[in-house]
Amino acid sequence: MSKLGIPGGTTINANLLAWIDEMARLCKPEAIHICDGSEAEYDALCELMVAGGTMTKLNPAKRPNSYYCRSDPRDVARVEDRTFICCHNKDDAGPTNNWVDPREMKTRMEALYDGCMTGRTMYVVPFSMGPLGSDIAHIGVEITDSPYVCTNMRIMTRMGQKVLDLIAKDGDFVRCVHSVGKPLAPGEKDVAWPCNPDNITISHFPETRTIWSFGSGYGGNALLGKKCFALRIASTMARDEGWLAEHMLIVGVENPAGEKTYVAAAFPSACGKTNFAMLQPPKGFDGWKIWTVGDDIAWIKPGADGRFYAINPEAGFFGVAPGTGADTNANAMAACASNSIFTNVALTDDGDVWWEGMTADKPAHLIDWKGRDWTPDSTEPAAHPNARFTAPVGQCPTVDPDWENPAGVPISAFIFGGRLSKTMPLVYQSFNWAHGVYLAATMGSEATAAAVGQAAIRRDPFAMLPFCGYNMADYFNHWLSMGRTVNNPPPIFRVNWFRKDSNGKFMWPGFGENMRVLTWIVDRVHGRAPGIESPFGMVPTYDDIPWDGLDYPKDKFQELMSIDREAGIAEARSQEELFDKFLDRLPKEFIYLRELLKSRLWRSPATWNLADEA
Ligand code: GTP
Ligand code: SPV
Ligand code: MN
Repeated sequence: MSKLGIPGGTTINANLLAWIDEMARLCKPEAIHICDGSEAEYDALCELMVAGGTMTKLNPAKRPNSYYCRSDPRDVARVEDRTFICCHNKDDAGPTNNWVDPREMKTRMEALYDGCMTGRTMYVVPFSMGPLGSDIAHIGVEITDSPYVCTNMRIMTRMGQKVLDLIAKDGDFVRCVHSVGKPLAPGEKDVAWPCNPDNITISHFPETRTIWSFGSGYGGNALLGKKCFALRIASTMARDEGWLAEHMLIVGVENPAGEKTYVAAAFPSACGKTNFAMLQPPKGFDGWKIWTVGDDIAWIKPGADGRFYAINPEAGFFGVAPGTGADTNANAMAACASNSIFTNVALTDDGDVWWEGMTADKPAHLIDWKGRDWTPDSTEPAAHPNARFTAPVGQCPTVDPDWENPAGVPISAFIFGGRLSKTMPLVYQSFNWAHGVYLAATMGSEATAAAVGQAAIRRDPFAMLPFCGYNMADYFNHWLSMGRTVNNPPPIFRVNWFRKDSNGKFMWPGFGENMRVLTWIVDRVHGRAPGIESPFGMVPTYDDIPWDGLDYPKDKFQELMSIDREAGIAEARSQEELFDKFLDRLPKEFIYLRELLKSRLWRSPATWNLADEA
């Protein structure tokens, strides 16, 4: 029995027992605890962290059953330049991934893991990505020395004894190893957020479906079911098995007549997936409903009826806190009103949490994410820009009745959107599937706080640049092929909520108002909305968008939708830089689609404008 003082789970899976034994001999923990996923276990883990200074229990009158954590300031986000795809052939990782030979990486990391759990408990966390027993779901086991990881995994996944029962004697599972990389010498006092920032290494071995993570306790670096498994490893499984693992939200749109249409949308990290997944219909949309299935990851399979079906493999939200408030996302606020964990936000004097954008008024006094006194006069934000809440999906007021349906929900459209202050219009639709794949592959986006050390602007194909577990050119080809596995592939759209005017102001109000764009998309799906041809794709005219409840002038919309010929051509030219990287693996279609784009632009006016067309 471990320090927790409760028995924990049991397994008869011989492979699991052998692997636990192997990892224990390497990491040399003081104790081993197999997580059963019970409430008593969760409470005991939290108590342990409160006693150790890692967690603060929030005021139960304000935020029932919730906890607050501050990370080490050197461990606040994903670390892309320390993330590796370790397959046998370098070319199979491709030019956009860091690659190290798997044997070399194993040797390197075995040295890091040797004795790394000294003085700590090794937790064994069995989890299912997706509803238990769904044939789209998959099982993983994470070995970790972080109780913070165990508690977050209990919210983010289906975790515990029921998963051990499912893999029974010989069931298969993805092996995930995680250590914060901070062994404790006898008698050494632990720190509140143990980590090893100089040696962070996040390695993926797609051929053996194994993940080895070391040195970080934060988010996608440590909660290995999320980016490491559900995207990087799952994308290689999906390539091999004929499905899709995507960085996408899943949302259902119900019109007043009761017609429900599900769409899946990929936006890069911190670019609005959570908001879009829980979108609040704005004024003028009485009778419309938005249903949330997922906010970050979608696993999508062709169904027997010739349509794509998607599940959310997660059971929780790990959402960006700053910018989330009652005005911008009341549903997210409700989801994290209780039973949640908050990391790197600020602490109020009455034992609740606060972050920039939660309320218009700033509290007079806070403890900031670094543990310092904060007042509205402070020069730094109270919450880290990548501060996050971990909250159960089931607590979201808009959660879809089918969110745990093992068969998934049918997807009628795909949407891709970057954060681009220049050039890209609010919305356009591809001319066909291959063109849609091309629009997704050439998506660009500006840097956010979700990862450290990003360039100011970069190509982020499919919002999967940091998450594709194999050569992205092969991934593009996989997408092209997947369009042939269904009867009539869903239409593909590009959106951009982030275009700015010459004063640097957002031209589009965004958030709930994105519903206006979504209704045009849904109308296109059902063949109800006209569209006109622009150099980039099919676009709505002013009159195709419902404006009820919003005063948005026609000339402003036309500016928002305009396409500058020179900027467009520069964009098409710079796509060559991306394409060149992939050499002969690049889909042939892309070469011709880029030529067609350039041709359309050459023949268009200096500024393509809806006013001249409609
Ligand atoms: P990950 O969890 O990192 O994958 O990100 P996400 O895509 O779920 O990001 P999220 O929805 O949490 O958005 C993060 C930031 O985008 C917040 O600061 C929001 O305020 C901002 N945001 C979301 N939607 C909009 C929008 O429509 N317009 C504008 N201007 N900002 C938005
Ligand atoms: C992202 O960065 O896209 C996230 C957060 O969703 S993390 O899980 O930390 O990667
Ligand atoms: Mn994400």
